[in-house]
Amino acid sequence: MDLFEHQAKELFAAYGVPVPAGKIAHTPQEAYAIAAEFAAGHTQPTNPDRPAGGTSRVVVKAQVKTGGRGKAGGVKLADSPEDAADKAGQILGMDIKGHTVHKVLVEEASAIAQEYYFSFLLDRANRTFLSICSVEGGMDIEEVAATNPDAVAKVPISALTGVDRAKAREIAAAGRLPDAAAEGAAELIERLWAVFADEDATLVEVNPMILTADGRVVALDGKVTLDANADFRQPEHLAFEDVAAADPLEARAKEKDLNYVKLDGTVGIIGNGAGLVMSTLDVVAYAGEAFVDARGNAQRPANFLDIGGGASAEVMANGLEIVLGDPDVKSVFVNVFGGITACDAVADGIVSAYRLLAERGEAIDRPLVVRLDGNNAERGRQILADAALPGVQQVDTMDDAARRAAELAAAGAAPRQGA
Ligand SMILES: Nc1ncnc2c1ncn2[C@@H]1O[C@H](COP(=O)(O)OP(=O)(O)OP(=O)(O)O)[C@@H](O)[C@H]1O
Ligand SMILES: [Mg+2]
Repeated sequence: MDLFEHQAKELFAAYGVPVPAGKIAHTPQEAYAIAAEFAAGHTQPTNPDRPAGGTSRVVVKAQVKTGGRGKAGGVKLADSPEDAADKAGQILGMDIKGHTVHKVLVEEASAIAQEYYFSFLLDRANRTFLSICSVEGGMDIEEVAATNPDAVAKVPISALTGVDRAKAREIAAAGRLPDAAAEGAAELIERLWAVFADEDATLVEVNPMILTADGRVVALDGKVTLDANADFRQPEHLAFEDVAAADPLEARAKEKDLNYVKLDGTVGIIGNGAGLVMSTLDVVAYAGEAFVDARGNAQRPANFLDIGGGASAEVMANGLEIVLGDPDVKSVFVNVFGGITACDAVADGIVSAYRLLAERGEAIDRPLVVRLDGNNAERGRQILADAALPGVQQVDTMDDAARRAAELAAAGAAPRQGA
């Protein structure tokens, strides 16, 4: 999970990493109030030459989970509360690389002497952690690495020994940070390692890490990616989740431990095993080209859903419920290759799922195309044939089943029961 800048900075602050004072605004009025509060806290007149802390200037920053905000006009300096409201008005609602800005961070402007780059990341290729440090920060590190590779230091970090003050000094020196910043940077780097390790992050990036006019080293930006595999031991990370952005069906699927991704087509997909589901998406997308519906659209997969190896009746019922919860779905393709969980068990699961959903008052109202192959396929097909569930059709091959599902989706499927 990626964090917003303001969340990353809250985390940094909790670990004693210096960050500018700042608050979140959802409206220009809120931005005005925050800037006014900061201005009132500082009796000094505005003077850009004064060190940080003595100025009422603020920076208004778009909070979106993508890079290049500054270049896109999403980071603006403001001289007064009125100006902050004005800049917030310009930034809120802005589209940055497909991300709409719903909130801005209003923070005290720092007096910047120099900008550096720093990050910790998981280096999968070398099976280790890595720190990257450069005296040339504030811009794209990829660009610095391409034009001036010597200015970018990459220091591997052992998971066993981590980063103590000596290691942090070594990293700062390798990045060629000047003496004036070396000790402050080392302290910051040591604390960022605590963030990285204790919070189970796979990325902690600070670009820019700055030296202020009065000689302090501060994290002026923050990008943090938390490892979702560690969620079980990081319950407080739940609070970081962006509920507003999450698809409601994806959220419900997650509650039920299902691997579901919403797509924008009409053919619901359920399969066992990620590889099979991926290829099912391809086959349906290909077959769907031939079936244009009344709106003139070809048929495409409506979702990815992997019910995994143990396709019990409950898992199948939950899967069908999620897929059918999407009103765009006009038909469902259940594609199962029996393995350890054999086809007869899956067929039993489908039959029970029909009953379960009916009991929940969510009877299946759209056609289901089922393809069973692999272990005990014959027995599974017989179970489904005997059950004669309304709307269920069996097709023996994956290609034919994909075509049939696309055809049914294009036809707009059967009318909803009771409609
Ligand atoms: N609190 C601040 N005070 C003064 N200047 C700031 C402050 N925050 C940001 N800046 C300036 O704005 C620049 C861009 O800010 P920041 O790094 O947060 O965004 P960005 O780099 O455009 O976004 P991203 O890292 O997502 O690409 C910084 O390099 C710095 O010069
Ligand atoms: Mg940045």
